[in-house]
Amino acid sequence: HGRLDPRLLRRKRNREGNSSMSAQTEGNNTHHNQASAMGEKGANLLITGVRIEDGPAGVDIRITGGKFAEIGAGLTPREGEEVRNYTGKLVLPPYIESHVHLDTALTSGQPRYNESGTLFEGIEVWSERKQTLTYEDVKDRAGRALRQQAQFGIQYVRSHVDVTDPDLTALRALIDLREELKDSMTLQLVAFPQEGIESFPNGRDLMRRAAEMGVDAIGAIPHFEFTREYSVSSLNFAVELAQEYGLLMDVHCDEIDDEASRGLETLATRALEAGIGPRVTASHTTAMHSYNNAYFLRLVRLLKMSGINFVSNPLVNTHLQGRVDTYPKRRGVTRVKELTEAGINVSFGQDDIEDPWNPMGTGNLRDVVLNGLYVTQMMARSEITGSYNFITHNAARTLNLSDYGIEVGNTANFIVLDAEDWFHALSFGSPVLANFRAGRVLTESEAVVRQVNF
Ligand code: FE2
Repeated sequence: HGRLDPRLLRRKRNREGNSSMSAQTEGNNTHHNQASAMGEKGANLLITGVRIEDGPAGVDIRITGGKFAEIGAGLTPREGEEVRNYTGKLVLPPYIESHVHLDTALTSGQPRYNESGTLFEGIEVWSERKQTLTYEDVKDRAGRALRQQAQFGIQYVRSHVDVTDPDLTALRALIDLREELKDSMTLQLVAFPQEGIESFPNGRDLMRRAAEMGVDAIGAIPHFEFTREYSVSSLNFAVELAQEYGLLMDVHCDEIDDEASRGLETLATRALEAGIGPRVTASHTTAMHSYNNAYFLRLVRLLKMSGINFVSNPLVNTHLQGRVDTYPKRRGVTRVKELTEAGINVSFGQDDIEDPWNPMGTGNLRDVVLNGLYVTQMMARSEITGSYNFITHNAARTLNLSDYGIEVGNTANFIVLDAEDWFHALSFGSPVLANFRAGRVLTESEAVVRQVNF
């Protein structure tokens, strides 16, 4: 019943977004206040001739003091306004990377490549690379990855940071980088216990130290804990810690093909009981791919009641999962179609950029959406044309962002694509011509010129 009509979704989202956001605006989103402050003395700009999301073509956007001031057809330029003519191009809110690991980015082959392509060899390779980790090393690689992401139209990034390191080197580097780049990129950091909370020496203590140092969200990794009991107690601990520090949650949840991996039911139940569902995210949930339908149908009721968010990483999930299958070989991607149809919020992430878990990956979320649609068989026309929501509005809800979207009064953050609409941008992989932050140009690319000589 038109469930994926993006207009309906957006209206619904705005309503729900506002109510779920008000509770946390005070605590975590200091970045946005900062962005608004910058807007006071920000750009005065007139963007002409564009289509906004799935709206009509030929719309102009006036930006005054770095904020959206007026949106409509036939706006006339004013004194002191820079005019940028993008006639026939598509404008979207900036892309949001809702799941990536910046601390491991750009380390592929160090000290060796993950030849089996399994999650677990990846964890082994990374624990070797961790021995040589330095503050400068993390800052340099994460900074390069973030700039690469910006070129592909991203302005908001939620990065998991491995805190199973007694020195918390990566976390120190990323907390500093979050501050240094805040005028250009909004970075959320998740305390991610790569080797477990209960199954790693002083795991709980490291999580608590990360919370004190200033992460935005608390993570967990229930499917990697030694026992089912540890899995449950690690989630109980993580929920309590998040509440104690007033933080968001994002759990690497059941990232395995084991149909018996059921951390999700515990996470959703605790979120429901604590009344924090919209502030909680379950990432991956690849085991859900293998759950029997009777269990899934029972589970989906709980998931809806809890109001938690989901992030799927279709490229890396299809690469890492199904590795111990012969044939038929499972895809290992969570049930995005069924969750979406049930009205549950799902966003898409890249997960890894050239690291032990993904030998490739550029940060370009177009590749993620394209792969996600194919692998989840979400190829109905409305599913394709609405799919930018996975890396824009849905992800904004996952991240609990405020001041997001092309609406009068919001900070003028947006991107311009070299395409007439999302369908063509997605299908042709059209470049992001410009990425604007508070009306200021963060990155620019040339349009692709295609010439055929016959
Ligand atoms: Fe991940």
